[in-house]
Amino acid sequence: MNKTVVIYESKYGYTRRYAKWIAEELSCRIFKKRNFHPKDFSQYDTIIYGGGLYAGGVSGIKLITQNWHLLSDKKVVLFTCGLADPGDPYNISNIQKSLSKIFSEEMMKQICLFHLRGGIDYSRLNLIHRSMMSMLRRMLLKKDPDTLRDEDRYILDTYGKCIDFTDKESIRPLTDYISSCSG
Ligand SMILES: Cc1cc2nc3c(=O)[nH]c(=O)nc-3n(C[C@H](O)[C@H](O)[C@H](O)COP(=O)(O)O)c2cc1C
Repeated sequence: MNKTVVIYESKYGYTRRYAKWIAEELSCRIFKKRNFHPKDFSQYDTIIYGGGLYAGGVSGIKLITQNWHLLSDKKVVLFTCGLADPGDPYNISNIQKSLSKIFSEEMMKQICLFHLRGGIDYSRLNLIHRSMMSMLRRMLLKKDPDTLRDEDRYILDTYGKCIDFTDKESIRPLTDYISSCSG
């Protein structure tokens, strides 16, 4: 019996929503990262980890990188949840560049990646996140407008608002992949 677990860290709830949908679809257990003890990796064959993207990093990803010795014989699936459109190959390439700084080559080979689109509600951001987004906005406003990418313009247009791109259907490639592995 292939045992699967979903573990996630979510600051504002977008990754949590995806993690819940995935666990429901796969009928498997789900844990917040802070409630999961690494010794319990031994109970599972497939580990699905989800985290929000923050300045290129993945929230809580140390659970995977620091416990890699417990994961080498397991199927490891990572889903990121970010604002950037994963339908744009430029964004995927940026995410993968950031991930290659976090993971060793061996890890990159073993981890199966999926990118899901989350959202942002500026009214709920903590002070640090709010000032990071304000810095990003100032930086974009200083650029020559003709050099801005659509994604940059979108950040400027929606700055201060509440946007939600979460879409249950977008988990399908991930859940189909897991189902195909467990035959
Ligand atoms: C300070 C800050 C930095 C962010 N950096 C990125 C980023 O590098 N790439 C991206 O796609 N989204 C980025 N986002 C958007 C978040 O990934 C998005 O809000 C996501 O849905 C958060 O998921 P969570 O609420 O589950 O943590 C950033 C958001 C904030 C507030």
